Amino acid sequence: PPSILGNGKDSSESAAEETYADIDWEDLGFNIVSTDYMFVMKCAKGDKFSQGSILPYANIEISPSAGILNYGQGIFEGLKAYRTEDGRILLFRPHENAERMKIGADRLCMPSPSIDQFVNAVKQTVLANKRWVPPPGKGSLYIRPLLMGTGSLLGVGPAPEYTFLIYCSPVGSYKKGAVNFKVEDKLFRAIPGTGGTGGIKSVTNYAPVYTAITEAKANGFSDVLFLDSASGKYIEEGSACNVFVVKGNVISTPATDGAILPGITRKSIIEVAIDLGYQVMECPISVEEMLCADEMFCTGTAMVVSSVTSVTYKETR
Ligand code: COI
Repeated sequence: PPSILGNGKDSSESAAEETYADIDWEDLGFNIVSTDYMFVMKCAKGDKFSQGSILPYANIEISPSAGILNYGQGIFEGLKAYRTEDGRILLFRPHENAERMKIGADRLCMPSPSIDQFVNAVKQTVLANKRWVPPPGKGSLYIRPLLMGTGSLLGVGPAPEYTFLIYCSPVGSYKKGAVNFKVEDKLFRAIPGTGGTGGIKSVTNYAPVYTAITEAKANGFSDVLFLDSASGKYIEEGSACNVFVVKGNVISTPATDGAILPGITRKSIIEVAIDLGYQVMECPISVEEMLCADEMFCTGTAMVVSSVTSVTYKETR
């Protein structure tokens, strides 16, 4: 179930707190809109996070020799808050993001906030930025927790200090228009198994495929679909989404084997599809099987659930 932040009927809330920020709410895209506050909490290597605070949203000061800048020691999360018609603000499964951040932090040798610390920090950030949660039906507040090695060092190794920071931005659709994938068959996103980082939200998973995304976009595609790096035969995921193919009553999606991001929308869709009576399979899906599917869709916090209108693999569409 979603977490509920306030019920909008609390008489202690002043009228001023209820007002919306003065922006055009009609045509939100997926762009950064600076809000009022961010959450910041720090801890030294070997310690536990303890106390964070809400600060005005601003640039942060960071050493040029910080672990994240030099050696990519950083992960992030993405989740959303929605405003309901009756004025409540709902968070979509924040505990799941907290759990995933913990797994990513372990993988990259970083301390992580506890589940409660993470969820409470998200709630504080959303409440502090309440006027930036879009009106019902106009979008959502995208929440971006970051965990990074901010301590300074020169040799390769875990940074001496860590920062957990949350900022947010009101957003609408991630992509305007149809999702038409180009299958990328030269650059790979991840390696299979737990030895890689494809299954965590490491900051280093994104920039290495910008050339593929840029080329695909220049050729009229909206995104790339990555293949497994071991054989190049099986589909994995898009640049910011999980994928599902539908054939009759069977809905299939690549299994989270370490190379696939365990998406929270992905998990929810699997649960909902099973409840609705579909057969759901988490299994390898070859390019050929995908090209014979009845239907395909992709999921993600930013993407939500979007149908895929076409997929192009070499010359085949
Ligand atoms: C999300 O859906 O939250 C993501 O992390 C995608 C992001 C890279 C835009």
